[in-house]
Amino acid sequence: MSDERPIGVFDSGLGGLTVVRQLIRCLPHENIVYFGDTGRVPYGNRSRETIQKYALQDEDFLMRQGVKLIIAACGTVSSMAPETGDRLPVPFFEVVSHAVKAALKATRNGRIGVLGTAATVASEAHKRQILALEPSAQVIANACPLFVPLVEDGIIERDDPVVCEMTRRYLQPLVEAGVDTVILGCTHYPILRDSIADYLGANVVLIDSGAATAEAVRDALQSQGLCNSGHSTGMHRLCISDRVSSFARIASLLLGEPVMAGQIERVDMDLL
Ligand code: DGL
Repeated sequence: MSDERPIGVFDSGLGGLTVVRQLIRCLPHENIVYFGDTGRVPYGNRSRETIQKYALQDEDFLMRQGVKLIIAACGTVSSMAPETGDRLPVPFFEVVSHAVKAALKATRNGRIGVLGTAATVASEAHKRQILALEPSAQVIANACPLFVPLVEDGIIERDDPVVCEMTRRYLQPLVEAGVDTVILGCTHYPILRDSIADYLGANVVLIDSGAATAEAVRDALQSQGLCNSGHSTGMHRLCISDRVSSFARIASLLLGEPVMAGQIERVDMDLL
């Protein structure tokens, strides 16, 4: 049995495409519908109630596209509102728990850094899950509120002076604490991976929440018999809630495949 229904993936903006890239790597034949809520990004400085409301709407939009599984490719939703997935009639994945497991596997000294939005860091979701699995671990978390607007504006070059300065400011406390593993707890951050790695040095392992989650999704689809067993490359639909001038360019970089402006569908959230 082959299940051709798409996988639904959502985020507040572009960042969730880092998860889509990992999904394409693990599951090249799967069809994917991506929803980036570019009209309301960022989520990371909003209240729990607002993040919950947006997550419910994003999930409802994807359900209407006939998806077989939904991924909240957003660290903020995954930390603040993961229960929004409980009501869904399809499997739901968030990006915190898989990153936590990967970090615990990678660390040698038990000191784990977490970078995320203000809401993600305030929720302490990573810290709670790490300590539940390994009570002796030390977790040092820092919010990086300017990273998301930098990425959404396409300011992502490894040597960009603004990126380098913000990286230094946000990561310095983690370096001082001697972390050997850092969770990129916001799905926008893998886009800045090179600058982050340059600052942290080669001995610090970076955990990409998307990679860990995509592998878990592949295992779930296989064990539940939900894979698309066709041999052609999957179709990837990209939907956004507002026009973003650099979306096509950055989406191409993130997905590793050309994205044309005409391929991007605009969704009016007021009509949902
Ligand atoms: N990619 C989202 C996350 O993982 C960005 C959050 C935001 O919109 O502030 O948290």
